[in-house]
Amino acid sequence: MRFPALLVTALLGALAALPLQAAEGTVLITGANRGIGLALAEEFTEAGFEVIGTARKPAKATELKATGARVVQLDVTDAASVAAMAKGLEGVPIDIVINNAGVALDRGRELADLDMESVERTLAVNTLGPIRVMAALYPNVKASDRKVFANISSMMGSMEMNTWGCCLGYRASKAALNSANQTLAVDFGKEGLTFVVFHPGYVQTDMNEGQGNITPAQSAKGLTRVISGLNAEDNGKFYDWQGKELPW
Ligand SMILES: NC(=O)c1ccc[n+]([C@@H]2O[C@H](COP(=O)([O-])OP(=O)(O)OC[C@H]3O[C@@H](n4cnc5c(N)ncnc54)[C@H](OP(=O)(O)O)[C@@H]3O)[C@@H](O)[C@H]2O)c1
Repeated sequence: MRFPALLVTALLGALAALPLQAAEGTVLITGANRGIGLALAEEFTEAGFEVIGTARKPAKATELKATGARVVQLDVTDAASVAAMAKGLEGVPIDIVINNAGVALDRGRELADLDMESVERTLAVNTLGPIRVMAALYPNVKASDRKVFANISSMMGSMEMNTWGCCLGYRASKAALNSANQTLAVDFGKEGLTFVVFHPGYVQTDMNEGQGNITPAQSAKGLTRVISGLNAEDNGKFYDWQGKELPW
């Protein structure tokens, strides 16, 4: 009767030695060192995903490292940085890419003295960044089971919801991201890829000096639930952090 017990112990030992495969798949989150991105890394880890979190300065991304995520250097405005990230991830299927990195540099209503440099920088990070990342990681997402690109946009990118103006560069950057998402949804939906844009809520982060009405953890919890449940029927949709559809 001792033999089966020994066999079970040996089998358990062998199983423990095997590399762990994340049950839910792999998610890559840009700008994951703070704010909503960090909270997403925590929530996706909790939900059973293997998380790859990007940071401009990995050495300083201590909270991200503490989640157990694999940390990868990425500045979305730097083509060489994006190419190096893609090279390092060659052949790795990525189920979900979340383009979260973003900036909000213009908070005013100027025109005559509009700061064009900040408008250009906002478009470079919020619009060109996600497009560059999607182009670079397309093979990884295509090779995965889920095949999802989730783009963190904003209700500020909605034409219909823009009844109070302000923040010309930021609004334009998110509206253009929404447009790119729709184009890719049409062009690559037939390959089984899913492209969705999200408003994460008004979230207490550095971006608004903590002025939001929900915490990063609340936003990330909702987003994780909705993003991990996405399928082909959601392709080309615009949702908030709770899965409510928003007007364009
Ligand atoms: N907070 C809100 O209420 C709210 C509302 C609507 C939409 N959003 C959107 O949600 C996303 C996350 O915002 P958040 O509130 O979490 O902002 P946040 O706390 O300011 O964090 C922004 C993140 O983006 C990264 N980032 C900035 N520029 C980058 C670049 N060139 N390359 C790579 N990463 C870069 C930052 O990295 P560093 O630490 O290196 O700067 C940081 O990790 C953004 O896309 C934002 O537009 C936020």
